[in-house]
Amino acid sequence: MAFGGAQASYINPVVPFTGMIEGGLQDGHKITIIGTVLPSGGNRFAVNLQTGYNDNDIAFHFNPRFEEGGYVVCNTKQRGSWGPEERKMQMPFQRGSSFELCFHVQSSEFKVIVNRNLFMQYTHRVPFHRANAICITGIVRLSAVSFQPPGIWPANSAPITQTVVHTIHSTPGQMFPNPVIPPTVYPNPVYPLPFFTSIPGGLCPSRSILVSGTILPSAQRCGSCVKATASRWPWMVSTCLNTATA
Ligand code: GAL
Repeated sequence: MAFGGAQASYINPVVPFTGMIEGGLQDGHKITIIGTVLPSGGNRFAVNLQTGYNDNDIAFHFNPRFEEGGYVVCNTKQRGSWGPEERKMQMPFQRGSSFELCFHVQSSEFKVIVNRNLFMQYTHRVPFHRANAICITGIVRLSAVSFQPPGIWPANSAPITQTVVHTIHSTPGQMFPNPVIPPTVYPNPVYPLPFFTSIPGGLCPSRSILVSGTILPSAQRCGSCVKATASRWPWMVSTCLNTATA
């Protein structure tokens, strides 16, 4: 569901993928990609924030390479020509593992956040608002590409306050012991909806997930839903708001 002006997410898009960024990039925009690096089939993947569907003008090329110990190449392409590369000789992704990759547009740079840790910054070489498409290629499978434009929350609304994912380790009669997975707490930001994240360690018996939030004052219609699903598991919880319609 698009919410408060946020662009709808692309769900399970097939790679190579190109999708439009409605209105182009803006200061404060966040783009979050949830996916998995494939174990084989190549050495690279790339995310391009670019102008339109062709790749002649790429404001930001983010290109992890599983070569020579692993590094990430960043660059800008203008009218078909690459500029000088910026290389970060670190690899924050793992083959075969899921990831959350977030690009946060700021006035002077892109911030790249991998699995909720700041990985790098890339100073703008061209005006970022020229980028109105995202293209993802290479050895990844994608679960979602979602967008949080700046200032989408109405002034009289309270945002989601906290999401906690935690594990209980002592369930009598359990068939196998739970792995010890430390609780993951996502503290207090405003999340774009629909919200996607990986579940560190996956699901297992007795693991609990607590989602807490605030119903927006502007939610009026019967059928407004809070819904959580875990992909590839037959599990879903859904809570519906039944207020009078205007
Ligand atoms: C080239 C590569 C392109 C792009 C570029 C970045 O060598 O073929 O795909 O990654 O480097 O500078």
